[in-house]
Amino acid sequence: MAKIIPVNEFDCIVFGATGDLTLRKLLPALYHRLLDGQIRPSSRIIAVARSRLDDDAYRARAREEALGHHVADEDRKDETVSTFLGMISYVSLDAAQSSDWGQLRDLLGQQPDRIRVFYLATSPELYGPISHNIGEQGLVTPNSRVVLEKPIGRDLPSACAINDEVGRVFEERQIFRIDHYLGKETVQNLMALRFANSIFERLWNGDVIDHVQITVAETVGVEGRGGYYDHSGALRDMVQNHLLQLLCLLAMESPLSLDADPVRDEKLKVLRALQKIEPHEVANVTVRGQYTHGAIDGKPVKGYLEDLGADGSRTETFVAVKCRINTLRWANVPFYLRTGKRLPSKFSGIVVQFRSPPFSIFPVDKSEMQPNKLIIRLQPEEGMRLEMMTKEPGPGGLRLRSTGLDISFEKTFAIRYPDAYERLLMDTVRGQATLFMRRDEVEAAWSWVEPIIEAWANRPEAPKPYPAGSWGPTASIALIERDGRTWHEEIA
Ligand code: BG6
Repeated sequence: MAKIIPVNEFDCIVFGATGDLTLRKLLPALYHRLLDGQIRPSSRIIAVARSRLDDDAYRARAREEALGHHVADEDRKDETVSTFLGMISYVSLDAAQSSDWGQLRDLLGQQPDRIRVFYLATSPELYGPISHNIGEQGLVTPNSRVVLEKPIGRDLPSACAINDEVGRVFEERQIFRIDHYLGKETVQNLMALRFANSIFERLWNGDVIDHVQITVAETVGVEGRGGYYDHSGALRDMVQNHLLQLLCLLAMESPLSLDADPVRDEKLKVLRALQKIEPHEVANVTVRGQYTHGAIDGKPVKGYLEDLGADGSRTETFVAVKCRINTLRWANVPFYLRTGKRLPSKFSGIVVQFRSPPFSIFPVDKSEMQPNKLIIRLQPEEGMRLEMMTKEPGPGGLRLRSTGLDISFEKTFAIRYPDAYERLLMDTVRGQATLFMRRDEVEAAWSWVEPIIEAWANRPEAPKPYPAGSWGPTASIALIERDGRTWHEEIA
């Protein structure tokens, strides 16, 4: 059984309450926390959006679209559903404008001392104006926090502008920038793996590790998000945040404690140590691709342009990058990152490949000798496998084979894996910011990504096409094979 520590009563004010994120992730997450007894039913969810709805109409949408589609049948208990819906009220408000705030002000005024979580589930351009209005209306109390979804901006200047605007209203300690990958159980487990097990930490450097691969593969296309995605692309949507955060957790030094600043200080050092990719290197160390029609699980799917309903677009739906971290620990260890939509399977994982023994006493073909690999499966089928060489049993000569020490977290712990948002929402209520990005982290990540964005924009070539259902453009295979290494598809 997981240990549940109830959080204090709170008011969660969700801006963008009719949007996809609220209905698909935030309401189901809050429901699950209520079901598990972590939220007191006297807490309130105040849903804010422009649509003219009343409480009942919004509750009906929450019941059908959020709980109906995104909570498993066995978890939808009548009594909890009705308690949950009773916690919700709806306020129709154009939050980017300064009029019409009376109803929200009155509602919040009923509980002036409560923890207030202002959740901005809107597009990033609205973070500044909404924060400004929250401040103007006098709604920021010492017990308030604001939650910003990624992406924070679309480049360094826009990220700085948003951070400045929000920072005029909220103190840095009150700003919770979400990267939902940090809320995933297996991502948090990376810290346990590294700092609670002395066997790995001693080996965690370029003397023993040959290279690291980080893959976040998705089978979905852009679905209904083409409008957002086409202005973003995989580098901004996934690499600048999720993949770089995974890289930070893998590469950082041990923080002084698990408090927010010590952890974020160490991640920031990694981001700052990332070697800048110079314009002339971009073609060699990055690959961008765009999916064309193909098949996933034997079913035909359309290409990106057809999904978008557009004639042309240079937006990438696949990225592979080779990066280097300029520290003593990592100087000779390349980190290969790749992510893409419409790949053959949904899979996020990390492969830490160790160096081969420098000399072999075994009379076997060199190709039979496989280097050790630590494979960390972040999702699905969360777990870890350490691949080791062993002797094949039986007489008739000595044959070696790579076999795995395998741990399945699902089988070991036998609990429902909570969605990342459940953990992150409860952390915002508690005011615990370890799993959120600090301003300087976000800006350092943009600084590293920007030269790639610029170099791509200045190059005449379009992203390389790849058929849906493949592992990306062949150039991605060439990127790693040029170094005498291969992507580990078999982990997916
Ligand atoms: C989001 C991206 O941040 O992460 C999406 O905007 C992507 O494009 C999603 O699909 C992937 O998250 P997960 O948790 O499904 O791996």
